[in-house]
Amino acid sequence: MRLLIAGFFMLVTCSLFAQTGNPYSYEIKKRTVVTKGAVVSAHPLASGAGVAILQKGGNAFDAAIATQLALAVVYPGAGNIGGGGFMVAHLSTGRNIALDFREKAPGAATRDMYLDANGNARTDLSQNGHLASGIPGTIAGIFSELKYARLPISTLIQPAIDLAGKGFAITEAEARSLNASQNAFKKYNTVTPVFVKEGGWRAGDTLVQKDLARTLQLIRDKGAAGFYEGETARLILEEMQRGRGIITAADLSGYQAKEREATVFPYKKYNIVTMPLPSSGGVILQQMMKMVEGQPLRSYGFLSVQAVHLMTEVERLAYADRAKYLGDRDYYSVPVDTLTSESYIRQRIALIQPDKAGTSKDIQAGVLSPASEETTHLNVYDREGNAVSITTTLNGGYGCKVVVAGAGFLLNNEMDDFSIKPGVPNMYGAVGAEANAIAPGKRMLSSMTPTLVLDKGKVFIITGTPGGTTITTSVFQTLIDMLEFNMTPEDAVNKPKFHHQWLPDEIFVEAGFPIEIREALQKMGYRITQRGGIGRTEVIKVSGGKIEAVGDGRGDDSVEGY
Ligand code: GLY
Repeated sequence: MRLLIAGFFMLVTCSLFAQTGNPYSYEIKKRTVVTKGAVVSAHPLASGAGVAILQKGGNAFDAAIATQLALAVVYPGAGNIGGGGFMVAHLSTGRNIALDFREKAPGAATRDMYLDANGNARTDLSQNGHLASGIPGTIAGIFSELKYARLPISTLIQPAIDLAGKGFAITEAEARSLNASQNAFKKYNTVTPVFVKEGGWRAGDTLVQKDLARTLQLIRDKGAAGFYEGETARLILEEMQRGRGIITAADLSGYQAKEREATVFPYKKYNIVTMPLPSSGGVILQQMMKMVEGQPLRSYGFLSVQAVHLMTEVERLAYADRAKYLGDRDYYSVPVDTLTSESYIRQRIALIQPDKAGTSKDIQAGVLSPASEETTHLNVYDREGNAVSITTTLNGGYGCKVVVAGAGFLLNNEMDDFSIKPGVPNMYGAVGAEANAIAPGKRMLSSMTPTLVLDKGKVFIITGTPGGTTITTSVFQTLIDMLEFNMTPEDAVNKPKFHHQWLPDEIFVEAGFPIEIREALQKMGYRITQRGGIGRTEVIKVSGGKIEAVGDGRGDDSVEGY
């Protein structure tokens, strides 16, 4: 798909064009095959910013930082400086890196902070407004990434500053998405943010974010302190007071990103490198991949009844463990070794009944909310062989909908990723228990699964996706599609996906899921619901000296390379 966005043209400096492409008239590109370096992200201007940095001599980390910061401007629904995320990377020296810049619960957070006097869960408070926000981690993450980069932050942040200060033409999808949130922006802000437009947004309108540009300049000049201290911190605290939020100066100045040991496990001749806790992604991706490793998936075939049955049951088993056992390991003892051990995997796979749907008999769960799965993913590969895979999030679309007045950025609603009451589903319908209960300073459980596949120690696949709880199943299916069904990256990204997460006990399928397979699965006892798009998966495949980047057709995702 190629889409030409043409906004009205404004006179801007040539340097802005050189750094991002023309921000008022640009193309969405879904696939490229290049030889030196490539970036794929949720927006063409962000991918353009990344590749311009590679061409200037930056490495994959430089490009990832420039792309991530540009996304905070051009993709405000999920790109962010007020949220958090994870990075998985592989250095050409062979070292793997996992960086955790997940948001944390504020120091004043309590286990029952979202329960009313009768003990009922107030998901309206965990999902919207000031109280929904965890302490943002993105800027601490970017300065941790900088350790592996080559260029100064002043160079890497400049495209984002220009895009915010001079504006860019919004896409049709962004206009639709902003229009859908107009009432929420008005409800949760006392100072009207730039995202509110009387009469509504249209494709090609220019979005200028002066306050955000100023905040980015402070970060450029003062480093992470330009966000966690000084003027920006003061504006966050004032915003907290306006909405009875609980983030304090000590919460902000005390926030630190953490490097963790990447989860690495073999799958046939490959090594998979992915994110450990507090993302559930690595543990359950490992469980799912290991459960299918010995099964004849290849002979079953893509979207065959047998393959969907097996993969659904594997997803059910892994998500049941997620709900019970997974949480922030810094606060709760999680039996990761047992959950991923060969003997446990053997016991679990033995529970699957051939030719019959399993059941998830347990506490009630809610309905998935596809419109809210606003996370975003980017991949970069450079000519030296470095690979970076970053998933970052505000949680729901435009986070808690609160824009920090004067600072111009949205805060996350990540507190909803905690289990606010055992058995009460979060906005993705996921339930949890003690392991993921709220505690001050604790990181809420995530599904984000930035992932690399290494073949003989060299980067072969870089992938990841947004999509709430569908993230890990989408990464799982993309890997199986490429490694077992020999699919092209384009097909692995775009062919219909399905999702089961234990509760609710049903398979969610995308439009295009074959009707005869659906009927055959229903005869086996499965409940099946069609829903909107599952994930927006980005893939870079490196093979035979060629770098193939593919952006998901489900959104404005776009590739750039050289
Ligand atoms: N907020 C989505 C996730 O972290 O999984």
